[in-house]
Amino acid sequence: MSNTAKLTLEGKDYELPTLVGTEKEKAIDIRALRKNSGYITFDPAYVNTGACQSAITFIDGEKGILRYRGIPIEELAEHSTFTEVAYLLIYGHLPNKKELGTLKEGLTRHSMIHEDMKNFYNGYPSTAHPMAILSAMVGSLSAYYPNVTNPGITEEEMHDNYVRLISKVRTIAAASYKKSIGQPIVYPRNDLSYCANFLYMMFAVPSETYKIDEELVKTLTLLLIVHADHEQNCSTSTVRLVGSSKANLFASISAGICALWGHLHGGANQQVIEMLEKIQREKIPVKKIVEQAKDKNSGFRLMGFGHRVYKNFDPRANILRAACDRVFKKLGIQDPLLNIAKELEQAALEDNYFVERKLYPNVDFYSGILYRAMEIPTNMFTVMFAIGRLPGWIAHYRELNADPDFKIGRPRQIYTGEVQRSYVPIDKRR
Ligand code: CMC
Repeated sequence: MSNTAKLTLEGKDYELPTLVGTEKEKAIDIRALRKNSGYITFDPAYVNTGACQSAITFIDGEKGILRYRGIPIEELAEHSTFTEVAYLLIYGHLPNKKELGTLKEGLTRHSMIHEDMKNFYNGYPSTAHPMAILSAMVGSLSAYYPNVTNPGITEEEMHDNYVRLISKVRTIAAASYKKSIGQPIVYPRNDLSYCANFLYMMFAVPSETYKIDEELVKTLTLLLIVHADHEQNCSTSTVRLVGSSKANLFASISAGICALWGHLHGGANQQVIEMLEKIQREKIPVKKIVEQAKDKNSGFRLMGFGHRVYKNFDPRANILRAACDRVFKKLGIQDPLLNIAKELEQAALEDNYFVERKLYPNVDFYSGILYRAMEIPTNMFTVMFAIGRLPGWIAHYRELNADPDFKIGRPRQIYTGEVQRSYVPIDKRR
């Protein structure tokens, strides 16, 4: 079988090379098409465009498969830690004892933010959305660790910046929460693990002893792992595009955080809970919500439903749905929103509109319910997504910079505006 594609344009034949990935995903290489034929390909929103070759994450949206560096998400969710997953994503293999020990030590050593950065918090109104603070603070790290802008920076120095970022993002997030509720910032503790330290900085108050709840640590670990990477999604593609101009690590990731904020992407987790709360508060029948989501004139979509890639089920949603039942039982708590979510899921899955369009619950549908159980405030949900996604963004930034075919990202367009016309002086304009 030929491994080139044939294209006929205006009576002329063009042969286009093809490529096949390790999981047999196929692509037509159109890089030379414009040069040879004058045509570009047209694919708004990149629905059918492979923007790079990547060895980090594999998704099969039809079969509901998600693997980080070849390892199924279900196995990582059951056996791994967030620190280990971060290493796996960035460096391509599970760390041995020494590698993991060094990473953990680095995360502890880099956990504090520069004292001057604390002044930033005083400039924000108490109502500031924590995603606004997070993106600005992460971008500002470039000012405190300027070696990141040095074109000759070594791999060891970059490693330090990766660790710095993973560690500090958690401190920045917890401090922004403390500021928003008017409490003093809590400093990290060197004896705590990554997730335990985050919960401590979020919820400890100086006058009281804070007891680490291992069940909450486990839940947070699971949440961060399932969010850790998702190949070329909107925020990761943003990190890659910004990084392709040779913008530094912190600047590129700050841009990714902004992309994540939108409610069609990571911002959906906040909106899911707000939707469920509204249903509860206003006692809206779930059938009515489903009807509203189907009505294109309503401007409303069922938040936490649908996915560009998953067309059968989102394995992350399955993991989190199961975790909800387990965690609620262990913590001995109940949340009426969990029942509403299940009822809503059932109603949507039985409706032809959702069946025909292959719309299923995505990762954001159940994550918020778990964050609520951990008493994380709703406006922090997307920040939690960002903390989880950080290793993925870093892995893609690193992979991009190591690519022998490195090029600045620069899509083309089909221009639909005015053709050339002359400037008209103001007194002659209609
Ligand atoms: N509720 C109602 N209708 C929907 C929904 C929804 N949540 N999602 C898609 N549709 C409809 C859409 O109106 C369209 O219908 P039609 O073919 O009649 O015009 C069809 O399904 C295909 O939708 P699309 O917008 O072309 O699909 P997409 O791949 O461009 O968008 C999506 C994917 C996730 C943005 C979309 O499903 C959506 O807006 N979902 C709600 C927001 C959400 O939960 N986002 C989180 C995504 S997962 C976390 C992450 O990785 O970011």
